[in-house]
Amino acid sequence: MAKLAAVLGLGAVGSTIAAKLIGNGWEVCSADTRENPEREFDFIEGSSRKHYAIPALADPKKADILIITLKAFTTGKAVRPLRNRFRPSMPVMLLENGMGQDAAVMDVFRVNPFYLGVTALGAVKDGNTVTLNADGKAVYGPRSVNAGGIGKIKDLPDSVFCFEENPVPAVLRKLAANTVINPLTAVLDEKNGIILEKAELVRRLTDEISRVLAPLGLGETPDSLYKAVMGIAEKTLENSSSMREDVRHGRPTENDFILGFVIKTAERFGMDVPELKRLEAEFLRKAGNAA
Ligand code: PAF
Repeated sequence: MAKLAAVLGLGAVGSTIAAKLIGNGWEVCSADTRENPEREFDFIEGSSRKHYAIPALADPKKADILIITLKAFTTGKAVRPLRNRFRPSMPVMLLENGMGQDAAVMDVFRVNPFYLGVTALGAVKDGNTVTLNADGKAVYGPRSVNAGGIGKIKDLPDSVFCFEENPVPAVLRKLAANTVINPLTAVLDEKNGIILEKAELVRRLTDEISRVLAPLGLGETPDSLYKAVMGIAEKTLENSSSMREDVRHGRPTENDFILGFVIKTAERFGMDVPELKRLEAEFLRKAGNAA
């Protein structure tokens, strides 16, 4: 029998994951609890265009996994109505940009095996069309002790997901990339490729970020972090970052969970981060003007 994934948040990343799971023989349902949770979208990858219709999740107890792919600032509120609706043994995976929202998810799914994941996908959603500009596997691993005991989630396709015993370095690397790429592309109003032309600024930013995230388990030198961030910018150079898109459309942004999170962490550790603070001030000016 086909495995069933419940996806909460069928935006650019959630729809991409849904399309890939369906392509690997899974069923996918929308776990949204608001009115009309079903979703339809066209998925464009290279020259291929396919239509997907994702039904509402009729019986949460039948789900084999819950994958959460929302905007960080909506996560806490969106997961609350899902408390006690799924089997306690069902794995929950948080696959979002940013950090700090995981506590709210763990609070709702206290006994479920809880996993953190990241993707370097470059995908854009425009109306009901999702375009994949940069492909890549989602890296995930255990965040809760019981997930650590279980390890790799059964039957997730290896072509879509890559298991790591300790997901924290990958999550922090992605946070570092988002901290540089997202606000800077929003301020400059350019695609990710512009980052490759800002080598000196990126060096100064990644130097500060590597100091702040080291105690959280980043495991990168300033130089290796710089290369990792530039690598993500290069891989997604044709993409318009999610934060730039949010600013352009006058929507709320994930700043508090990305650059804001890193600055708050620095303040907690008593660290000075002038470049990050300057970038945040410019970003907030831009976002304020756009709103
Ligand atoms: O937020 C985004 O847009 C993405 O995480 C990334 C990797 C920066 C690509 O644009």
